[in-house]
Amino acid sequence: MKKIMFRCCKCGKTFRIDEVHYRCDECDEPLELEHVKEGKIKDGNSLKQNILQRYSDFFPFLSIDEEVSLGEGFTGLVESKSLAKEAGVEKLYFKNESQNPTWSFKDRGTYVGIQHVLKLGYKRIGTVSTGNMAPSVAAYGSKTKLETFILVNNNIPDEKMNPIGIYGPNLIKVDGDYGKMYYESLKIGKENDIYFLNSDSPFRVEGSKTISFEICEQLDFEMPDYVVIPTSAGGNIRGIEKGFSEFRACGLIDKIPKIIAAQARGCSPIADAYEAGEMEIERVANPKTIAHAIENPYPPSGNQTLRMLEYNGGMAVSVTEEELLEAQGLMAKIGLFGQPASAVPFAAVRKLKNAGRISSEDSIVCILTGSGLKYTAAFAKHDLKSEKCSLEDLSGFISKNY
Ligand SMILES: Cc1ncc(COP(=O)(O)O)c(C=O)c1O
Ligand SMILES: [Zn+2]
Repeated sequence: MKKIMFRCCKCGKTFRIDEVHYRCDECDEPLELEHVKEGKIKDGNSLKQNILQRYSDFFPFLSIDEEVSLGEGFTGLVESKSLAKEAGVEKLYFKNESQNPTWSFKDRGTYVGIQHVLKLGYKRIGTVSTGNMAPSVAAYGSKTKLETFILVNNNIPDEKMNPIGIYGPNLIKVDGDYGKMYYESLKIGKENDIYFLNSDSPFRVEGSKTISFEICEQLDFEMPDYVVIPTSAGGNIRGIEKGFSEFRACGLIDKIPKIIAAQARGCSPIADAYEAGEMEIERVANPKTIAHAIENPYPPSGNQTLRMLEYNGGMAVSVTEEELLEAQGLMAKIGLFGQPASAVPFAAVRKLKNAGRISSEDSIVCILTGSGLKYTAAFAKHDLKSEKCSLEDLSGFISKNY
């Protein structure tokens, strides 16, 4: 490992990176790896590289285990002229993270995190998740033959259990407060030698930097005005901002886009605090949204996200269930099917534009964080049509009806 430390995002206290640390023992705020100030993108054929090879200067590893890779990252950046027009903005792009091996951005952080797990010699990994992180950690756990512990909420539907179970982890339904499970898992991890790769663990945050690195390359280093990110724990948004910030420090870009944290109104602790001008989140009493993937009532990186939005000059916003479902439908009309959480950024863009908080000259990247197929129950919220006819009648049926 390179000579670098974990640093507390709030008080600056440092911790060694050849040990497992998640949060500061002084102020209980999350840790991050110290910022990289010198580096460049590796030359060579990106089709043959994985994210840790192409962007190796931005990670602390002196060597990596390439076998761990399942081909994560290098996802498409899709421009939509029609939805830009619909929202009334200059340019609109979707970074399609559903192209990852387990259909969400989580694979980036899992791949990077497992490198740290292996360096420290851990044989057991785990995570606390309801939807996307669980299959991701289970898949990489099975690839690396690490014993894998996935803790899920007791009321998780089968639709979500089976795509985790297929990878064969120790899958445990836990009856109790889901928000507290994150903190409990850190304790259990210490007691049982399990490295928990939770939502905002420092190396998972590092993985999310590669989303911004790729956006920079895909836009020829011309930065958009805004990047809009569906936010729950706050790990992904922190990583994306850190990626831009490190590229700027290294002279690869000359400005950092403004970051927008987009939440569902039914669980919006970060947007609520932002709107109230507070720098600390409050626990949401009864979270309820169809965007389950971003339904964390007490996000562990919530306060840090608020601090980051302040120095970045970004903002936080929440959208209603109707607004996010409408956005999901509109995105599907251009061929992009994100899960409800992943439609929240586009809903936020429409809302902010209508409110005059972003302008018609702005260019915007929305992060489509995970596949729509992860949550098929959302189909019932859309007016999906189909017809039926016999093979003999098919020709006449088409000419008569269409
Ligand atoms: C699809 C999807 N989008 C967004 C998020 C939010 O990411 P974070 O919890 O890092 O803020 C998650 C987190 O689980 C997710 O699964
Ligand atoms: Zn601290």
